[in-house]
Amino acid sequence: MNLKIAVLPGDGIGPEVTNESIKVLKCIADKYNHKIELSEGAVGAIAIDEYNDPYPDLTHKLCEDSDAILFGAIGDPKYDNDPKAKIRPEQGLLKMRKKLGLYANLRPTIIFESLLDMSPIKEERISGTDILFVRELTGGIYFGERGRKDNDNYAYDTCQYSREEIIRIAKKGFEYAQKRSKRLCCVDKANVLETSRLWRETVQSMEKDYPEIKVSYEFVDAVAMRLIQWPSSYDVLITSNLFGDILTDEASVISGSMGLMPSASIGLDNALYEPIHGSYPEATGKQIANPIASILSLSMMLEYTFNLKDESEAINRAVEESLTKRYTTPDLNSDNKAYSTSEVGDYIVDFIKQN
Ligand code: IPM
Ligand code: MG
Repeated sequence: MNLKIAVLPGDGIGPEVTNESIKVLKCIADKYNHKIELSEGAVGAIAIDEYNDPYPDLTHKLCEDSDAILFGAIGDPKYDNDPKAKIRPEQGLLKMRKKLGLYANLRPTIIFESLLDMSPIKEERISGTDILFVRELTGGIYFGERGRKDNDNYAYDTCQYSREEIIRIAKKGFEYAQKRSKRLCCVDKANVLETSRLWRETVQSMEKDYPEIKVSYEFVDAVAMRLIQWPSSYDVLITSNLFGDILTDEASVISGSMGLMPSASIGLDNALYEPIHGSYPEATGKQIANPIASILSLSMMLEYTFNLKDESEAINRAVEESLTKRYTTPDLNSDNKAYSTSEVGDYIVDFIKQN
C-alpha cells in the first residue's frame, strides 16, 4: 500500500517524539512492504517565526494532499506569558482543525497492566479501565464569537452548537459504542447551559436508531469526579469541545503518564494523529520526552486511516513490551534507570523487526 503522510513535528518536544514515530513507520513499511511518502510542514511557533502564520497555506495544502497527518506538539512559553500576543501557536492547531474539518477527536484512556503501580489512583480502581472519549473539535466555545468591550474592561466568549454538529459527533459516539461495550455516556451541563440541553435532546432523539446501546446522561462536574473515583465504570463518552479538553487531560494521568496517550482527529476527508501531551518546553532537546504517545498515535493512524490492523497491533505489542520491561523514559523510571527518547524508539523498532 502507498501511505502518503504529512508530518508536522511542530514545537518543543514535538520534533523529538515525531522522529521516533517516523523510525517506527519506516520499520513497519519495510517489514510489511508498504511504500511511504512523507512530506514535512511547519506549524505552531516555528511557523510563526518563518511565515508569520502558525498554520501557513503551504502546510494546509500539504495536509490536504495527504492521506493522513502525523502531528507533534504546539506551543512556546514566549507566547504563554504574553496575553496580548496577537498571533499565537495554538491558533495554528485550531485553524488546522477547522480548515481540515477535523470534527471528531478520539482520545482513548487505556491502562497498561505493567504500569498499574505508576498510577496516582489505587490499582483496584483503575484495573480494566478502557475509555474512549469522543470530543467535538470544531465547534462550541472554542469557535464562538468572542471579544472585548468597555475599553477592554469586559470580555466574552460564546458557546454555540447546531443540531447538525451534535448529530455528527453523536453518530461517531454511537458507532464506537456499538463496536465496544454498547454503553455511551453523554457528558453535558444541561442543568445550566442551553447548548447542553440541545445536546441532550438531540442524543435522546437518536437513541431509537441504536436500540442496543444503553445511553447515560451525566453532568460534566459529576463525570470529572467519577473519572477519578471509578474510571473503569466508563466506556465511550461524547463531549463538547471544552468539556472534552478538560476531561481528557484529567483522564490521561490515570494511566501513569501523560506521555502515553495518543489521539486521532477525524474529518470527512482527512485525519490527524497526535499525542495528547503538549510541547513540554522544559524538556526540549534533552531526549527525556516519552515517545510512546506519538508512536501509539501512528498505530492509530495505521488502524483508522489505512485499516492496517496487523501493523497497528505489531506496534502496540512492541510498546507493551517496552513498558513491561520498563525500557522507558524518566516519566516512568527513576532517572538513573531511564532511557532516552531515541533509545525507547530503537527498542520498539528492534522488537517489531524481530517479532
Ligand atoms: C488539546 C490542546 C489544545 C486544545 C490547545 C493546544 C489549543 O489543549 O489538544 O487538548 O485546547 O484543544
Ligand atoms: Mg487539551
